[in-house]
Amino acid sequence: MTRLICVSSGKGGVGKTTLTSNLGSALTEFGVDTVVMDTNLTNPNLGFHLGIPLYPVTLHDVLRGDAHITEATYIHNSGLRVVPAGLSVEDLRNTSPENLGDVLLDTVGEPEFVLLDSAAGLGRESIHAIEAADEVIIVTNPNLPAVTDALKTCKIAEEAGTHILGVVLNRVRDNESELSVEEIEDMIGYPVVTEIPDHEVFDDAISNKAPVVHHADDHHVSERFRKLAADLAGIEYVPENRSEGLFNKIMNFFK
Ligand SMILES: Nc1ncnc2c1ncn2[C@@H]1O[C@H](COP(=O)(O)OP(=O)(O)OP(=O)(O)O)[C@@H](O)[C@H]1O
Ligand SMILES: [Mg+2]
Repeated sequence: MTRLICVSSGKGGVGKTTLTSNLGSALTEFGVDTVVMDTNLTNPNLGFHLGIPLYPVTLHDVLRGDAHITEATYIHNSGLRVVPAGLSVEDLRNTSPENLGDVLLDTVGEPEFVLLDSAAGLGRESIHAIEAADEVIIVTNPNLPAVTDALKTCKIAEEAGTHILGVVLNRVRDNESELSVEEIEDMIGYPVVTEIPDHEVFDDAISNKAPVVHHADDHHVSERFRKLAADLAGIEYVPENRSEGLFNKIMNFFK
């Protein structure tokens, strides 16, 4: 059965699109049929993270009733399926997110996972995405404003009856000014399922128009996303198989 999972935060810029693109890519690497959908209708940028910013038909066309979801679904060269949103101001003016639930029903049954990259804030489009999904992953950073907004997002999800899978703590620097995992779990009331460090590899990946799991395959940050993807999909995770060093690669070449 298809799992509809919304990636939400409350506060903007905390790493929702980064998580969506990397989690989707990691699931695809595991052979799990996955669609990532840009439900950030005002400031969509999932396409930029995947290196394919421009598409002829988008989620905006589908929400307006001008296209079927299959026409707005594209296959990234990694095999990940992508439903992008439109970038034009015209798209912004003429689309309402109310139809998202119906549109999502058209995807059910086919892919194993549909990951919804949500908009910042708790306006209509974010709330519709949470309501349309079955499950939600909350992304936050280890500071009070981000955690307070994450808590509000949890309340919205609880009211909508959307199951909260847990919290992804992103941009962790391990310094004293940050809130600890324990403090965040106490405030939010849900477990931190993974911590992603603040790292310059994310800037490199964006400028190379690729998720980190593709741009820096062997990087420890990529392993975090793979572990989370494996946990979500119920796959046993064996990191040694993926992050073999240069020496092992050379040895394997001669085997
Ligand atoms: N762990 C990290 N370390 C360093 N930079 C990061 C990390 N995670 C995300 N970033 C960077 O932070 C910026 C914002 O990330 P992203 O676009 O994923 O946030 P968002 O929550 O989707 O934002 P918005 O609310 O605007 O949609 C991007 O430039 C991204 O590369
Ligand atoms: Mg985003």
